[in-house]
Amino acid sequence: MEATSNLKLDHVTLRRVRDIVQTCSDKLYANENIPLEDIKIISVVIEEFVDRYHHGKEEKAYFPQTEEKDDFSEDIRKFLIEHELGRRIAKMLVSHLMQWQAGKESREPVARFLKSYAAFITDHTGKEDRFFDMVEEKQSLSTDESQMLLKHYEQCKNYVGGQERIEELLRLIEYLEARDWMR
Ligand SMILES: [Fe+2]
Ligand SMILES: [Fe+2]
Repeated sequence: MEATSNLKLDHVTLRRVRDIVQTCSDKLYANENIPLEDIKIISVVIEEFVDRYHHGKEEKAYFPQTEEKDDFSEDIRKFLIEHELGRRIAKMLVSHLMQWQAGKESREPVARFLKSYAAFITDHTGKEDRFFDMVEEKQSLSTDESQMLLKHYEQCKNYVGGQERIEELLRLIEYLEARDWMR
C-alpha cells in the first residue's frame, strides 16, 4: 500500500541523515574542525524533516489509522514513546549547540547527542520497517484508507511549510553530504 511504502521511503532519507549525524559526531570526537553553521543545519533538518514532517505523518495520520487493527496498538505506543525520546535528544543537542555558538566549548556534549540521535534513527526506523512489512503482509490497510492517508500526508507537508520547504530540506541534506568533513 502506498501509504506504508511512502513512510518506508522516508526512512531511506532518514538513514542518509543518520549517516551525516554519525560522521559529524565521529569527526568532532576526532577533534576535526566542523563549522558550527553545518551542525546548525543538521539540527534544522532533524527538527523539520525528521521530526515535524516524518514523525508528523506517522503521529497525525498513519498511526491513528492503524492503531485499532490487528493488535498494533502496543507497537504504536512504543513508537510514540521513541519519538519523544528522539525529541529529547534533539533538544539537548540544540541547547549545547547554542551554548557552543555563544562561546562555551561544547564539542563533547554536541558529539555525544549527535551520536545518540544517530543511534535513535537506526534503532527506530529498523523497528518501524519491520512493523510496516507486517502491515503490508497482513494487508491491514484498504486501498481507500491508503488513499485517504496520502491526502492526509499532503496536509502534514503544509504543516512544515509545503512542498517547497521539503525540497529545500532535501537540498540541505545534499549540501551536508557534499561537505569536506563528510569525506
Ligand atoms: Fe517513527
Ligand atoms: Fe518512521
